Amino acid sequence: MSIENKIEKLALLTSGGDAPGMNACIRSTVRTAISKGVKVYGVYRGYEGLINGELVELESRDVANIIQKGGTILKSARSESFRMPEGRKRAFNQLEKFGIDGIIVIGGDGSLTGAYKLYTEFEFPVVGVPGSIDNDIYGTDLSIGVDSALNRIINAIDIINDTASSHDRTFVIEVMGRNNGFLALMSTIAGGAEYAFVPEKKCNYDDVIKLAKDRYKYGKSRSIIIVAEGAAQGQDVANALVDAGFSDTRVTVLGHLQRGGPPTYFDRILGTSMGIYAVEGIINGKAGTMVALKGSKLCYIPLKDIINKKKSISLELLEINKLMNI
Ligand code: F6P
Repeated sequence: MSIENKIEKLALLTSGGDAPGMNACIRSTVRTAISKGVKVYGVYRGYEGLINGELVELESRDVANIIQKGGTILKSARSESFRMPEGRKRAFNQLEKFGIDGIIVIGGDGSLTGAYKLYTEFEFPVVGVPGSIDNDIYGTDLSIGVDSALNRIINAIDIINDTASSHDRTFVIEVMGRNNGFLALMSTIAGGAEYAFVPEKKCNYDDVIKLAKDRYKYGKSRSIIIVAEGAAQGQDVANALVDAGFSDTRVTVLGHLQRGGPPTYFDRILGTSMGIYAVEGIINGKAGTMVALKGSKLCYIPLKDIINKKKSISLELLEINKLMNI
């Protein structure tokens, strides 16, 4: 399907878990659209706000001084109503009521699935922008927020390393990632941690206990184990280590510290570029696509090609990481 509309009024929403860099994307979307003579309406609280008609016109000044801020000034929500056909119909009615002729959705896989439904069920022009710290969105190398979250995690690993070394302790650090172990895997490698539990691989407590024991034999008494929340609970991994004799094991759950806070340089640039690209796309007949990063270039990928697809991680890197820690 190719829906080509003249866009005069654009809506913009953020949905799902917020991600650092979303504000940079909001800023560039609004300013790019205005520079092309297109009005922009910010939708507050994601799809829930769309259903309730929380649309406000945004001027260039409304997005001033936000590029450095984490979170999303448009706020976000996980909308149950939008999952239902009646909810989506109400959302579409609001778009018509406000005279909107295209929408840009910044969010994770659930949010992009919602965007695809607006496109297919109502032939409404949408362009998606991948925003989620998890990096679980198929079709793009990276999503807005991943780099910031990873830097936050690595910073935490560095900090914990100091105290772990001082006390010769084993530490378990639980990171986000319900279905995808990208954050756990990459932070393990970049943080010089010893082991990662990821949802993509069955947990093997014996393996990590053997690793900790071997390290002890080599004279290394400190180990850092990263656990993705979707693989196991950090506390359970720590309990297994305590039972195996590492009685001083400690656990740190990083939680939402990974999601808020100022975006890195990379996420500011990625958010800015994706916002510009999304506006250009919706104006130039790229409705029904998502902006994606492939290598160092942006492109448009049909939403139908990314919906319900699972992004994989390189499990071989887990094995390679073992070599880094002998
Ligand atoms: O999808 C982003 C994410 O941060 C996941 O990593 C995490 O599991 C989830 O959101 C937490 O969601 P909430 O803030 O709604 O508890």
